[in-house]
Amino acid sequence: MAVSFAGLWEALVAVGRDPVTGGYRRFSWTAQDTACRAWFTRAAAERGLRTGTDRNGNLWAWWDVPGAPGGQAVVTGSHLDSVPDGGAFDGPLGVVSAFAAIDLLRERGLVPVRPLAVAAFTEEEGGRFGVACLGSRLLAGTIEPDAARALTDSGGISLAEAMTAAGHDPAGIGPDTELLGRVSAYVELHIEQGRWLVSMDAAVGIGQRIWPHGRWRLVFTGQPDHAGTATLAGRHDPMLPFAATVLAARQAAVQEGALATVGKVAAEPGAVNAVSARVSAWLDARGPDEQALAAVVEQVLAAARSAAAAQGVGLEVVQESATPAVDFDLGLRSRLATALGDRGIPAPLAATGAGHDAGVLAARVPTAMLFVRNPTGVSHSPAEHAERADCEAGVVALAAVLEDLACR
Ligand code: GLV
Ligand code: MN
Ligand code: MN
Repeated sequence: MAVSFAGLWEALVAVGRDPVTGGYRRFSWTAQDTACRAWFTRAAAERGLRTGTDRNGNLWAWWDVPGAPGGQAVVTGSHLDSVPDGGAFDGPLGVVSAFAAIDLLRERGLVPVRPLAVAAFTEEEGGRFGVACLGSRLLAGTIEPDAARALTDSGGISLAEAMTAAGHDPAGIGPDTELLGRVSAYVELHIEQGRWLVSMDAAVGIGQRIWPHGRWRLVFTGQPDHAGTATLAGRHDPMLPFAATVLAARQAAVQEGALATVGKVAAEPGAVNAVSARVSAWLDARGPDEQALAAVVEQVLAAARSAAAAQGVGLEVVQESATPAVDFDLGLRSRLATALGDRGIPAPLAATGAGHDAGVLAARVPTAMLFVRNPTGVSHSPAEHAERADCEAGVVALAAVLEDLACR
């Protein structure tokens, strides 16, 4: 039994990789994104799958039931975009594995009795426009199309402009009940972003739940001035409340058993010898439950407000995205466990603090996830890794699940 993973992987692996850092910069609606899309279309065409881009820019490749197109589909896939300097596996592993799993089913002479589709959702990381899982959120109708069209990247280009420049009409974005109505289940395979599977000595695991999480943008506005002449007492320096906020985030997360990160900051105008006019900071907060998450955010924002007031600095807070806790569909999860158990594939249950399109789509259709062991546990970094044998074990596991869901 040959797993066709390597060829698919090698054809994609160089796209968007930075030669200096070794990290990936695959941002939606850029030239790198176009190259990823071309790879997807080629992989689908090589397999005789029917391809299409939905109104929201998500890619689909359909293995129709011979002689009977239509019907409720089983969908698998993930995303091809990355965070700035992300790893090779977060996203692409699920899409490559989806095509490789189809190859495996075909090699065994299996034919779906319900349509089987591979999907690649756009802007999952929110790496360009700030809102994570943007493509699946639009599809599911959990973000307003007007609000999405108006999102801007760091250069001030709106989503609508970027889509137009890439040849995709932004007028049609928004909920697509017809397409979602065709989906009976979505199963996303993903690299694990932690070391749970290492500790369990298992190559693959089954997703149990996703922590609730969200993103907040805090803009501190002060009084720009000369670093060598403005008196300390007379300053309104936005950097000070920003710094207090970062420390408060750490403290609140420790206190609540949660996670809080300020991973992106922009100081304007960015002169070494000037007090900043404005500091924009992005808070990413996640908790084991909604109360813990709310408590963290409340404490961080209270600290930010009081530190800003103490310095005579203005503060604007915008919640950019929110994703409630997701418990993956119990029925689908047990089917995955049975399909894998029947083939002697051990697959422990794994909870995660990371967000996924499967988490967003869970509000509309039954979803489940498979995780593949990550020996470093590191993700959103060039150090992210999965051994080839584990990737292939993931393909075998995904094929077993798809066989059970689509071929019986
Ligand atoms: C996506 O990977 C996220 O968890 O932000
Ligand atoms: Mn990610
Ligand atoms: Mn991902």
